[in-house]
Amino acid sequence: MANKNLNAAKTAKKDEFYTQLEDINNELRHYREHFRGKTVLCNCDDPRVSNFFTYFAYNFEFLGLKRLITTCYKNQNMDLFSQNGCEQAIYLIYDGDKNGNNIPDPAEIGIHPLKGNGDFRSPECIELLKQADIVVTNPPFSLFREYVAQLIEYDKKFLIIGHQNAVKYKEIFPLMMQNKLWLGYGFKGGAGHFISEYEDRAAAGDHRKGMIRVSGVHWFTNLDIKKRHEKLILYKHYSEEEYPYYANYNAIEVSKTELIPDGYYGLMGVPITFLDKYNPDQFEIVGNTSDTDWCRAAGVGTMGQATIDQLRRQGNMAHVTANMNSLYIIKDGKVSLPYGRLIIRRKK
Ligand SMILES: C[S@@+](CC[C@H](N)C(=O)[O-])C[C@H]1O[C@@H](n2cnc3c(N)ncnc32)[C@H](O)[C@@H]1O
Repeated sequence: MANKNLNAAKTAKKDEFYTQLEDINNELRHYREHFRGKTVLCNCDDPRVSNFFTYFAYNFEFLGLKRLITTCYKNQNMDLFSQNGCEQAIYLIYDGDKNGNNIPDPAEIGIHPLKGNGDFRSPECIELLKQADIVVTNPPFSLFREYVAQLIEYDKKFLIIGHQNAVKYKEIFPLMMQNKLWLGYGFKGGAGHFISEYEDRAAAGDHRKGMIRVSGVHWFTNLDIKKRHEKLILYKHYSEEEYPYYANYNAIEVSKTELIPDGYYGLMGVPITFLDKYNPDQFEIVGNTSDTDWCRAAGVGTMGQATIDQLRRQGNMAHVTANMNSLYIIKDGKVSLPYGRLIIRRKK
């Protein structure tokens, strides 16, 4: 990618890219039963351009919604690519089809002015949040931490798009550990195309006109889904040779999620992508080695001088400075440093 695009989006706060209806449909089809009788809020969505609004307005009766509320941030212009130029914003309320044509007609949609700019954190938007049962949107990536914190504070159900790197944030990971937040079904190939005027600098060949390709996007939710209860099939048998212990922590290294061995109930270090397969009935998440506070509290040993010298001899100096506290393995006199790991344990 597009990680470049996303990082640029974060630094420049370029949050104007829009979700395709197809992607919303693909994810939302797994959640139908959650919406009956519910008020849905899309609170980062100009209703005139948001496909979240389109999806819920056109599927209002099919899903059996009670109410759809959509708030628009700043801009009241009709252009697709909001420049956030106008301070005043609006919100819409749709209570379903009244004239029997099953289409959300303008006369059926209540348009109301907001006093402020429609910031999801403003008191008037929080009042709308309180009315909602489920919040569904693609929020500004630059405000993801705050956005999730607010949903948790108001005890809301949600289904939102974010970047998978967010799982490592110290505000987000504990929520995943406590089973208050998990990953949804996600985007095909782990990447999404978003409608945008930003230049697509994606390295991958899969360009689409008028869109940016963002790799590593995912859906985050606290709605229960089947996927979360599917057991990971463990086809590998545990053996000491294949699964070395870390030299500085009492856990075995598992280099790929699908290689988690059967018959092993101690601590294991797995790649962060494990979260996509995480079934809380099968596994427990114990920690995250990207979090230095956790490493300290868990007693992950720091690297001794002999190991550092060894790494130096191996020509691995970049790793030495970057990973002084990370887990490492010594095998046949060679030191290896896996990437950041989640520490998990299989449940009996
Ligand atoms: C990634 S875009 C997604 C837009 C839309 N939800 C969609 O999926 O098509 C994030 C949107 O959040 C809006 N936004 C930025 N800061 C906001 C804030 N503080 N409160 C509410 N919306 C905000 C941006 O204007 C932008 O349209």
